[in-house]
Amino acid sequence: TDFRGKVVVLYFGYTFCPDVCVTSLSLIAQGLSGLDAASLQKVQGIFISVDPERDTPQRLAEYVPFFHPKLIGATGTVEQIASVARLYGSSYRKHPAAADGTYAVDHSSVTYIVAPDGRLTDMLQHGSPPASITAAINKALSLGK
Ligand code: NI
Repeated sequence: TDFRGKVVVLYFGYTFCPDVCVTSLSLIAQGLSGLDAASLQKVQGIFISVDPERDTPQRLAEYVPFFHPKLIGATGTVEQIASVARLYGSSYRKHPAAADGTYAVDHSSVTYIVAPDGRLTDMLQHGSPPASITAAINKALSLGK
């Protein structure tokens, strides 16, 4: 609700992800770069961590905008993350930690497009090309007019 009036591009993942999130954030960044400057001003990308124990606000702030300046990270308590993930039908599962304390988190990989009025307008599956992301954002922007 903080971003009503903007199109929100939402993704659930975690910064220690070895590959899936890197791919997705790169595709989202390219999708954002496909927008004209005026449209880009009306968009906010949000990466919600499904690993709140390791993804501190500081770590997210260092990692996420690296992909694109319009992307921010968000985290919360374990319960808050579970609650927002449930709202979007996003799922994730933490693996048991290895001997060195590291662990992986399996997660669904969907890019959610939310129109300026808060309506969910698109769910882009993993690997969706940048042009489809740009098109979905432009569609959501046009609904907000
Ligand atoms: Ni990931």
